[in-house]
Amino acid sequence: MRELQAKGAELVSLMRGEPDFRTPPHIVEAAERAMREGRTTYPDNRGEKKFREAVAAKLERDNGLRFDPATEVLATTGATFGIQSVLTAMLNDGDEVLLPDPIYDAYQSPIRLTGGVIRSVRSCVVDGRFAIDFDALDAAHSPRTKLLILNTPWNPVGSVLRPEEIDRIADFCIARNVMLVSDEIYEAITYGGARHVSPLAARPDLRDLYVHINSLSKTYAMTGWRVGYCAGPREVIDAMFMVLAQSSRGPATFIQDAAAAALRDSQECVAEMRAEYTRRREKVIGALSGLPRVGVLEPEGGFFAMADVRGLGEPSDEVRKRLLRENGVVVIHGSAYGRAGEGTLRVSFASGGANLERGLERLRAGLQ
Ligand SMILES: Cc1ncc(COP(=O)(O)O)c(C=O)c1O
Repeated sequence: MRELQAKGAELVSLMRGEPDFRTPPHIVEAAERAMREGRTTYPDNRGEKKFREAVAAKLERDNGLRFDPATEVLATTGATFGIQSVLTAMLNDGDEVLLPDPIYDAYQSPIRLTGGVIRSVRSCVVDGRFAIDFDALDAAHSPRTKLLILNTPWNPVGSVLRPEEIDRIADFCIARNVMLVSDEIYEAITYGGARHVSPLAARPDLRDLYVHINSLSKTYAMTGWRVGYCAGPREVIDAMFMVLAQSSRGPATFIQDAAAAALRDSQECVAEMRAEYTRRREKVIGALSGLPRVGVLEPEGGFFAMADVRGLGEPSDEVRKRLLRENGVVVIHGSAYGRAGEGTLRVSFASGGANLERGLERLRAGLQ
Protein backbone atom coordinates (compact mmCIF):
# COMPACT_ATOMS: atom_id res chain seq x y z
CA MET A 1 0.00 0.00 0.00
CA ARG A 2 2.66 2.43 1.08
CA GLU A 3 4.83 1.72 -1.96
CA LEU A 4 1.93 2.34 -4.31
CA GLN A 5 0.88 5.46 -2.42
CA ALA A 6 4.45 6.78 -2.59
CA LYS A 7 4.20 6.45 -6.37
CA GLY A 8 1.04 8.52 -6.35
CA ALA A 9 -1.60 5.77 -6.44
CA GLU A 10 -4.89 6.77 -4.91
CA LEU A 11 -6.11 3.76 -2.96
CA VAL A 12 -9.39 3.01 -1.20
CA SER A 13 -9.11 0.92 1.94
CA LEU A 14 -11.68 -1.65 3.02
CA MET A 15 -9.13 -3.04 5.38
CA ARG A 16 -9.27 -1.66 8.88
CA GLY A 17 -11.44 -2.71 11.79
CA GLU A 18 -11.88 0.81 13.05
CA PRO A 19 -15.34 2.40 13.30
CA ASP A 20 -15.50 5.73 11.44
CA PHE A 21 -18.04 7.17 13.89
CA ARG A 22 -17.14 9.92 16.31
CA THR A 23 -17.37 8.87 19.96
CA PRO A 24 -20.90 9.88 21.08
CA PRO A 25 -20.93 13.40 22.60
CA HIS A 26 -22.23 12.44 26.04
CA ILE A 27 -19.17 10.20 26.51
CA VAL A 28 -16.77 12.96 25.42
CA GLU A 29 -18.53 15.37 27.78
CA ALA A 30 -18.18 12.92 30.67
CA ALA A 31 -14.40 12.80 30.05
CA GLU A 32 -14.19 16.62 29.86
CA ARG A 33 -16.13 16.97 33.07
CA ALA A 34 -13.97 14.40 34.84
CA MET A 35 -10.78 16.18 33.78
CA ARG A 36 -12.09 19.53 34.99
CA GLU A 37 -13.02 17.93 38.30
CA GLY A 38 -9.43 16.87 38.77
CA ARG A 39 -9.91 13.20 37.95
CA THR A 40 -6.37 13.21 36.59
CA THR A 41 -4.49 11.36 39.31
CA TYR A 42 -3.45 7.69 39.33
CA PRO A 43 -6.40 5.33 39.03
CA ASP A 44 -7.14 2.40 41.30
CA ASN A 45 -5.05 -0.18 39.46
CA ARG A 46 -7.89 -2.72 39.45
CA GLY A 47 -10.10 -0.11 37.91
CA GLU A 48 -11.97 2.77 39.49
CA LYS A 49 -14.76 1.53 41.74
CA LYS A 50 -17.34 3.46 39.70
CA PHE A 51 -16.14 1.86 36.47
CA ARG A 52 -16.02 -1.66 37.88
CA GLU A 53 -19.54 -1.21 39.22
CA ALA A 54 -20.72 0.04 35.84
CA VAL A 55 -19.12 -3.02 34.22
CA ALA A 56 -20.82 -5.39 36.66
CA ALA A 57 -24.19 -3.66 36.07
CA LYS A 58 -23.70 -3.82 32.29
CA LEU A 59 -22.77 -7.51 32.37
CA GLU A 60 -25.95 -8.23 34.32
CA ARG A 61 -28.17 -5.99 32.15
CA ASP A 62 -26.89 -7.01 28.71
CA ASN A 63 -25.41 -10.44 29.20
CA GLY A 64 -27.21 -11.95 32.17
CA LEU A 65 -23.87 -12.41 33.97
CA ARG A 66 -23.21 -11.67 37.64
CA PHE A 67 -19.73 -10.70 38.73
CA ASP A 68 -18.61 -9.08 41.95
CA PRO A 69 -17.15 -5.69 40.99
CA ALA A 70 -14.86 -5.76 44.04
CA THR A 71 -13.06 -8.98 43.20
CA GLU A 72 -14.08 -10.34 39.81
CA VAL A 73 -13.70 -7.36 37.45
CA LEU A 74 -10.55 -5.72 36.08
CA ALA A 75 -10.22 -2.51 34.02
CA THR A 76 -7.75 -2.82 31.14
CA THR A 77 -6.28 -0.64 28.43
CA GLY A 78 -8.49 -2.09 25.73
CA ALA A 79 -9.27 -5.74 25.09
CA THR A 80 -5.66 -5.97 23.95
CA PHE A 81 -4.35 -5.72 27.49
CA GLY A 82 -7.08 -8.03 28.78
CA ILE A 83 -5.80 -10.68 26.38
CA GLN A 84 -2.17 -10.01 27.28
CA SER A 85 -2.84 -10.17 31.02
CA VAL A 86 -4.88 -13.38 30.95
CA LEU A 87 -2.22 -15.09 28.84
CA THR A 88 0.61 -13.87 31.09
CA ALA A 89 -1.30 -14.90 34.19
CA MET A 90 -2.30 -18.35 32.96
CA LEU A 91 0.49 -19.70 30.79
CA ASN A 92 3.73 -21.43 31.69
CA ASP A 93 6.32 -22.25 29.04
CA GLY A 94 5.03 -24.92 26.71
CA ASP A 95 1.36 -24.64 27.73
CA GLU A 96 -0.95 -24.97 24.78
CA VAL A 97 -3.65 -22.59 23.60
CA LEU A 98 -6.40 -23.68 21.24
CA LEU A 99 -7.07 -21.05 18.63
CA PRO A 100 -9.77 -21.26 15.98
CA ASP A 101 -8.46 -20.86 12.45
CA PRO A 102 -8.99 -18.34 10.88
CA ILE A 103 -9.10 -15.75 13.66
CA TYR A 104 -8.05 -12.21 14.62
CA ASP A 105 -4.32 -12.26 13.96
CA ALA A 106 -3.22 -10.35 17.09
CA TYR A 107 -3.82 -13.28 19.46
CA GLN A 108 -0.76 -15.10 18.17
CA SER A 109 2.11 -12.90 19.28
CA PRO A 110 1.04 -12.52 22.92
CA ILE A 111 0.54 -16.29 23.15
CA ARG A 112 4.10 -16.80 21.93
CA LEU A 113 5.51 -13.99 24.05
CA THR A 114 4.05 -15.56 27.17
CA GLY A 115 5.58 -18.95 26.41
CA GLY A 116 2.44 -20.53 24.99
CA VAL A 117 2.19 -22.87 22.03
CA ILE A 118 -0.61 -22.36 19.52
CA ARG A 119 -2.72 -25.33 18.49
CA SER A 120 -4.90 -24.31 15.57
CA VAL A 121 -8.45 -25.57 15.37
CA ARG A 122 -9.60 -25.64 11.79
CA SER A 123 -12.96 -24.22 10.88
CA CYS A 124 -14.76 -24.69 7.61
CA VAL A 125 -17.53 -23.13 5.60
CA VAL A 126 -20.79 -24.96 6.25
CA ASP A 127 -24.07 -23.60 4.85
CA GLY A 128 -22.53 -20.23 4.00
CA ARG A 129 -20.80 -19.58 7.31
CA PHE A 130 -17.53 -20.50 8.98
CA ALA A 131 -18.05 -22.99 11.80
CA ILE A 132 -15.62 -24.68 14.21
CA ASP A 133 -14.81 -28.25 13.28
CA PHE A 134 -15.42 -30.10 16.53
CA ASP A 135 -13.39 -33.12 15.47
CA ALA A 136 -10.47 -30.74 14.93
CA LEU A 137 -11.10 -29.28 18.39
CA ASP A 138 -10.91 -32.74 20.00
CA ALA A 139 -7.84 -33.64 17.95
CA ALA A 140 -6.00 -30.45 18.92
CA HIS A 141 -6.36 -31.13 22.65
CA SER A 142 -3.44 -32.53 24.63
CA PRO A 143 -2.58 -32.81 28.33
CA ARG A 144 -0.77 -29.46 27.97
CA THR A 145 -3.85 -27.60 26.75
CA LYS A 146 -4.72 -24.80 29.12
CA LEU A 147 -6.86 -22.30 27.23
CA LEU A 148 -9.27 -21.98 24.36
CA ILE A 149 -9.70 -18.51 22.90
CA LEU A 150 -13.05 -17.74 21.33
CA ASN A 151 -14.21 -14.61 19.61
CA THR A 152 -17.93 -14.29 19.04
CA PRO A 153 -19.06 -12.43 16.96
CA TRP A 154 -15.99 -13.73 15.19
CA ASN A 155 -13.37 -11.60 13.47
CA PRO A 156 -12.70 -12.05 10.56
CA VAL A 157 -15.38 -14.52 9.49
CA GLY A 158 -18.53 -12.83 10.82
CA SER A 159 -20.08 -15.91 12.41
CA VAL A 160 -21.99 -15.53 15.66
CA LEU A 161 -21.74 -18.73 17.67
CA ARG A 162 -25.07 -20.50 18.01
CA PRO A 163 -26.41 -22.01 21.23
CA GLU A 164 -25.68 -25.56 20.08
CA GLU A 165 -22.09 -24.59 19.22
CA ILE A 166 -21.61 -22.90 22.58
CA ASP A 167 -22.99 -26.01 24.23
CA ARG A 168 -20.46 -28.26 22.54
CA ILE A 169 -17.63 -25.90 23.42
CA ALA A 170 -18.77 -25.73 27.04
CA ASP A 171 -18.96 -29.54 27.21
CA PHE A 172 -15.44 -29.71 25.79
CA CYS A 173 -14.00 -27.16 28.25
CA ILE A 174 -15.65 -28.76 31.27
CA ALA A 175 -14.72 -32.33 30.29
CA ARG A 176 -11.09 -31.37 29.63
CA ASN A 177 -10.68 -28.67 32.27
CA VAL A 178 -9.76 -26.06 29.64
CA MET A 179 -10.30 -22.40 30.44
CA LEU A 180 -12.39 -20.45 27.96
CA VAL A 181 -11.09 -16.96 27.17
CA SER A 182 -14.07 -15.31 25.54
CA ASP A 183 -13.43 -12.13 23.56
CA GLU A 184 -16.87 -10.55 23.07
CA ILE A 185 -15.76 -7.19 21.73
CA TYR A 186 -18.24 -7.27 18.78
CA GLU A 187 -21.21 -8.31 20.93
CA ALA A 188 -23.31 -5.23 20.09
CA ILE A 189 -23.01 -5.60 16.32
CA THR A 190 -25.25 -8.44 15.15
CA TYR A 191 -27.68 -8.76 12.26
CA GLY A 192 -31.01 -10.33 11.46
CA GLY A 193 -31.84 -13.24 13.69
CA ALA A 194 -28.31 -13.65 15.02
CA ARG A 195 -27.98 -12.66 18.65
CA HIS A 196 -24.89 -12.64 20.79
CA VAL A 197 -25.08 -14.99 23.74
CA SER A 198 -22.25 -14.96 26.22
CA PRO A 199 -21.03 -18.55 26.69
CA LEU A 200 -21.31 -18.23 30.46
CA ALA A 201 -24.93 -17.08 30.21
CA ALA A 202 -25.73 -20.15 28.11
CA ARG A 203 -23.77 -22.44 30.41
CA PRO A 204 -23.52 -21.27 34.01
CA ASP A 205 -21.53 -24.43 34.77
CA LEU A 206 -18.59 -22.78 32.95
CA ARG A 207 -18.28 -20.32 35.84
CA ASP A 208 -14.83 -21.42 37.09
CA LEU A 209 -13.49 -21.83 33.56
CA TYR A 210 -14.58 -18.60 31.91
CA VAL A 211 -12.80 -15.26 31.46
CA HIS A 212 -14.75 -12.50 29.76
CA ILE A 213 -12.74 -10.05 27.62
CA ASN A 214 -14.41 -6.87 26.42
CA SER A 215 -13.77 -3.28 25.47
CA LEU A 216 -15.51 -0.07 24.53
CA SER A 217 -13.52 0.25 21.29
CA LYS A 218 -16.07 -1.11 18.82
CA THR A 219 -19.39 -0.72 20.65
CA TYR A 220 -18.96 2.99 21.39
CA ALA A 221 -16.46 3.94 18.64
CA MET A 222 -13.77 4.46 21.27
CA THR A 223 -10.74 2.74 19.72
CA GLY A 224 -8.35 5.54 20.66
CA TRP A 225 -9.47 5.75 24.28
CA ARG A 226 -7.85 2.43 25.12
CA VAL A 227 -10.35 1.21 27.66
CA GLY A 228 -11.73 -2.26 28.24
CA TYR A 229 -12.49 -4.74 30.99
CA CYS A 230 -12.36 -8.38 32.00
CA ALA A 231 -14.41 -10.49 34.36
CA GLY A 232 -13.75 -13.96 35.68
CA PRO A 233 -13.02 -16.11 38.71
CA ARG A 234 -11.47 -14.20 41.58
CA GLU A 235 -8.15 -16.12 41.54
CA VAL A 236 -7.68 -15.52 37.82
CA ILE A 237 -8.59 -11.83 38.07
CA ASP A 238 -6.16 -11.50 41.01
CA ALA A 239 -3.35 -12.98 38.91
CA MET A 240 -4.25 -10.75 35.95
CA PHE A 241 -4.27 -7.78 38.30
CA MET A 242 -0.71 -8.59 39.37
CA VAL A 243 0.37 -8.57 35.72
CA LEU A 244 -1.40 -5.26 35.18
CA ALA A 245 0.06 -3.70 38.32
CA GLN A 246 3.57 -4.38 36.98
CA SER A 247 2.90 -2.95 33.55
CA SER A 248 0.09 -0.73 32.24
CA ARG A 249 -1.58 0.08 35.59
CA GLY A 250 -4.87 0.53 33.84
CA PRO A 251 -6.67 3.19 31.81
CA ALA A 252 -6.52 6.87 32.86
CA THR A 253 -8.87 7.86 35.66
CA PHE A 254 -10.97 10.32 33.62
CA ILE A 255 -11.19 7.80 30.77
CA GLN A 256 -12.68 5.30 33.20
CA ASP A 257 -15.25 7.91 34.27
CA ALA A 258 -16.25 8.40 30.63
CA ALA A 259 -16.32 4.64 30.06
CA ALA A 260 -18.59 4.22 33.09
CA ALA A 261 -20.93 6.83 31.59
CA ALA A 262 -20.89 4.99 28.25
CA LEU A 263 -21.89 1.71 29.89
CA ARG A 264 -24.46 3.23 32.25
CA ASP A 265 -26.23 5.90 30.19
CA SER A 266 -28.66 5.49 27.28
CA GLN A 267 -27.64 2.84 24.75
CA GLU A 268 -29.39 4.70 21.91
CA CYS A 269 -26.04 5.53 20.26
CA VAL A 270 -25.21 1.81 20.08
CA ALA A 271 -28.53 1.08 18.36
CA GLU A 272 -27.92 3.91 15.87
CA MET A 273 -24.47 2.62 14.96
CA ARG A 274 -25.82 -0.91 14.61
CA ALA A 275 -28.53 0.38 12.23
CA GLU A 276 -25.86 2.07 10.11
CA TYR A 277 -23.70 -1.09 10.04
CA THR A 278 -26.79 -2.99 8.94
CA ARG A 279 -27.20 -0.64 5.95
CA ARG A 280 -23.52 -0.97 5.07
CA ARG A 281 -23.71 -4.74 5.32
CA GLU A 282 -26.53 -4.76 2.77
CA LYS A 283 -24.37 -2.70 0.40
CA VAL A 284 -21.44 -5.06 0.73
CA ILE A 285 -23.62 -8.12 0.17
CA GLY A 286 -25.17 -6.41 -2.85
CA ALA A 287 -21.78 -5.53 -4.33
CA LEU A 288 -20.48 -9.08 -3.93
CA SER A 289 -23.59 -10.79 -5.28
CA GLY A 290 -24.13 -12.00 -8.83
CA LEU A 291 -20.43 -12.22 -9.69
CA PRO A 292 -19.15 -15.22 -11.62
CA ARG A 293 -17.17 -17.66 -9.42
CA VAL A 294 -17.28 -15.31 -6.45
CA GLY A 295 -19.68 -15.43 -3.52
CA VAL A 296 -20.16 -13.75 -0.19
CA LEU A 297 -20.49 -15.20 3.30
CA GLU A 298 -23.11 -12.94 4.82
CA PRO A 299 -21.87 -11.78 8.21
CA GLU A 300 -24.04 -12.53 11.24
CA GLY A 301 -22.08 -10.08 13.37
CA GLY A 302 -19.13 -7.68 13.40
CA PHE A 303 -18.27 -5.36 10.53
CA PHE A 304 -16.45 -7.65 8.12
CA ALA A 305 -17.79 -9.69 5.22
CA MET A 306 -15.87 -12.55 3.68
CA ALA A 307 -15.81 -12.67 -0.10
CA ASP A 308 -15.61 -16.30 -1.14
CA VAL A 309 -13.07 -16.43 -3.98
CA ARG A 310 -12.35 -20.16 -3.88
CA GLY A 311 -13.94 -20.46 -7.32
CA LEU A 312 -11.25 -18.24 -8.86
CA GLY A 313 -8.74 -21.06 -8.44
CA GLU A 314 -5.81 -18.95 -7.29
CA PRO A 315 -4.42 -18.05 -3.88
CA SER A 316 -6.41 -15.35 -2.12
CA ASP A 317 -3.18 -13.43 -1.52
CA GLU A 318 -2.72 -13.19 -5.30
CA VAL A 319 -6.29 -11.97 -5.72
CA ARG A 320 -5.68 -9.41 -3.00
CA LYS A 321 -2.48 -8.15 -4.67
CA ARG A 322 -4.18 -7.83 -8.03
CA LEU A 323 -7.08 -5.90 -6.52
CA LEU A 324 -4.55 -3.61 -4.89
CA ARG A 325 -2.39 -2.99 -7.95
CA GLU A 326 -4.98 -3.00 -10.71
CA ASN A 327 -8.06 -1.72 -8.95
CA GLY A 328 -6.62 0.35 -6.12
CA VAL A 329 -8.72 -1.29 -3.41
CA VAL A 330 -7.26 -2.71 -0.21
CA VAL A 331 -8.72 -5.84 1.39
CA ILE A 332 -7.05 -8.61 3.41
CA HIS A 333 -6.66 -12.19 2.20
CA GLY A 334 -8.31 -14.70 4.52
CA SER A 335 -5.10 -16.74 4.85
CA ALA A 336 -3.59 -13.81 6.79
CA TYR A 337 -5.86 -15.02 9.62
CA GLY A 338 -4.89 -18.69 9.35
CA ARG A 339 -4.64 -21.40 6.77
CA ALA A 340 -8.34 -22.24 6.94
CA GLY A 341 -9.08 -18.70 5.76
CA GLU A 342 -7.55 -19.44 2.37
CA GLY A 343 -9.96 -18.76 -0.47
CA THR A 344 -11.57 -15.74 1.14
CA LEU A 345 -11.01 -11.98 1.33
CA ARG A 346 -11.98 -9.90 4.36
CA VAL A 347 -13.91 -6.79 3.38
CA SER A 348 -14.36 -4.24 6.15
CA PHE A 349 -17.39 -1.99 6.41
CA ALA A 350 -16.23 -0.29 9.58
CA SER A 351 -15.96 2.79 7.38
CA GLY A 352 -18.99 3.83 5.36
CA GLY A 353 -19.99 6.74 3.14
CA ALA A 354 -18.10 7.58 -0.05
CA ASN A 355 -15.13 5.42 0.99
CA LEU A 356 -17.29 2.31 1.12
CA GLU A 357 -19.13 3.18 -2.12
CA ARG A 358 -15.91 3.69 -4.06
CA GLY A 359 -14.18 0.72 -2.49
CA LEU A 360 -17.07 -1.59 -3.36
CA GLU A 361 -17.20 -0.31 -6.95
CA ARG A 362 -13.51 -1.10 -7.35
CA LEU A 363 -13.80 -4.45 -5.62
CA ARG A 364 -16.72 -5.50 -7.78
CA ALA A 365 -14.97 -4.38 -10.97
CA GLY A 366 -11.80 -6.25 -10.01
CA LEU A 367 -13.57 -9.46 -9.04
CA GLN A 368 -15.69 -9.29 -12.18
C1 LIG B 1 -11.38 -9.68 18.07
C2 LIG B 1 -10.67 -8.48 18.55
N1 LIG B 1 -10.25 -8.44 19.83
C3 LIG B 1 -9.59 -7.37 20.31
C4 LIG B 1 -9.33 -6.26 19.51
C5 LIG B 1 -8.57 -5.10 20.11
O1 LIG B 1 -9.43 -4.34 20.87
P1 LIG B 1 -9.03 -3.08 21.74
O2 LIG B 1 -9.10 -1.87 20.85
O3 LIG B 1 -10.08 -3.02 22.78
O4 LIG B 1 -7.68 -3.31 22.30
C6 LIG B 1 -9.76 -6.25 18.19
C7 LIG B 1 -9.49 -5.10 17.31
O5 LIG B 1 -9.59 -5.13 16.11
C8 LIG B 1 -10.45 -7.38 17.69
O6 LIG B 1 -10.90 -7.44 16.43
